[in-house]
Amino acid sequence: MHKEIERFSRKAKEYKEALLLAPDSRILEIIPIIAILDGIVKKIGIPKKELKIVDLMAGNGYLSSLLYDNGFYNITSIEACNQMSFGAEIFKKITLYPIPDITVAPHIIRSINPNVIISVASFHHLIEYSNEGNISVNKSIKFQEEVICNCMEAMNDLGIMIIADLSDISGNIKVKKIDDLDIWGESTITDMTIYDSDISRWLTKSDDKKGMEWYKNAVNRNYYVDDNCNFSLKWFRDIVNTNTKIGHDDIALSNTLIESVSKSHEVFYEKYACPWVFDSLELLKKFIFKKFGFNVNEQNAISMEDCFSFAQQLGGINEQRDTATFGWDLGLVVIKKKNALFSQKTIEKNVQFMLVGICVVLILLLIAKAGMAKVYLDIGFIFQTLLAFFFGGLASHALNKTKN
Ligand SMILES: C[S@@+](CC[C@H](N)C(=O)[O-])C[C@H]1O[C@@H](n2cnc3c(N)ncnc32)[C@H](O)[C@@H]1O
Repeated sequence: MHKEIERFSRKAKEYKEALLLAPDSRILEIIPIIAILDGIVKKIGIPKKELKIVDLMAGNGYLSSLLYDNGFYNITSIEACNQMSFGAEIFKKITLYPIPDITVAPHIIRSINPNVIISVASFHHLIEYSNEGNISVNKSIKFQEEVICNCMEAMNDLGIMIIADLSDISGNIKVKKIDDLDIWGESTITDMTIYDSDISRWLTKSDDKKGMEWYKNAVNRNYYVDDNCNFSLKWFRDIVNTNTKIGHDDIALSNTLIESVSKSHEVFYEKYACPWVFDSLELLKKFIFKKFGFNVNEQNAISMEDCFSFAQQLGGINEQRDTATFGWDLGLVVIKKKNALFSQKTIEKNVQFMLVGICVVLILLLIAKAGMAKVYLDIGFIFQTLLAFFFGGLASHALNKTKN
């Protein structure tokens, strides 16, 4: 079993209990994703409930469940850790696909043919090791790229992949921004249904902006977050990894990954602050203590108060009005196929159409010739028959190839 999956199997119980304590706390991670999905359904002109979505590395379905509550009903969740997915209490209405490991996912995705694949807080766990058993950054990034490209390949030409995850991306990266996506025209998330809470009230106070710019304005207006903070990475590397028995490794989203993927695909990227929001400080304390597995393997565990004071020291705790927030930030990556018209799959399909066309024309010519001349065995007739069989064979071979 992959080391990361084994880690999750040990902390799954606590992780799931934490999410149940405050199911809406991570909503800001998901809001930009829902806004993008809204834009996509409006652009392709289908009802929300029909948009086919795959939640990749779904855990116990946090994202799937929120999407479902927002009217996206066609969701398949794919997860490799049984302890994470089994008995996923907040997750009842969604189809779960257990997989032995991530390399199987593209095959399942091909059979689903989704419009969108989404992966939240998971890609940094795709870690590869050297022969000596040490984490290999290069191998990990190569593997992450392979997973992305295989998933993209498994979708049709209009398929889109969205990844929200820890980001180690620095400097000016030469890809488009999320606001450059051509979906923002009509997109709004003011019709989000489930957040009868403070968050929904301040989000709906629109200020004539759209997309990420609007989201960032709204979050800043309410939580005064520091866009440059990189709190999530520091929290994992300086606190969780060193103070929990289970530890935490990551290969966060990197410049190398994004730049490599952008050679073969169209990539949009942006970092966003998405603080976790709680009704009280007490709830926040319990949540982070459990979610990050501080109390797993209790013998050497640190106390809930220690865990909280680490978060305070790192500047991650903010109290305002009736809410307490835990600083959080992720990188958002949207991947589309480049020049969908000239993609490999489209070329293969066009070749199939051409071959089938030639085959049909030859057969029609044969029928016409046979009908007119009533001669069945002249050389031209035999030659044309052979050609028809030849092109028919090629067409069926090409058809089989794209089906597989
Ligand atoms: C932090 S959880 C996120 C779960 C869910 N997406 C969420 O946001 O709550 C990461 C998930 O990735 C899965 N995972 C971790 N490492 C993996 C690997 N190497 N291959 C496949 N899945 C992995 C874990 O089982 C876990 O469910």
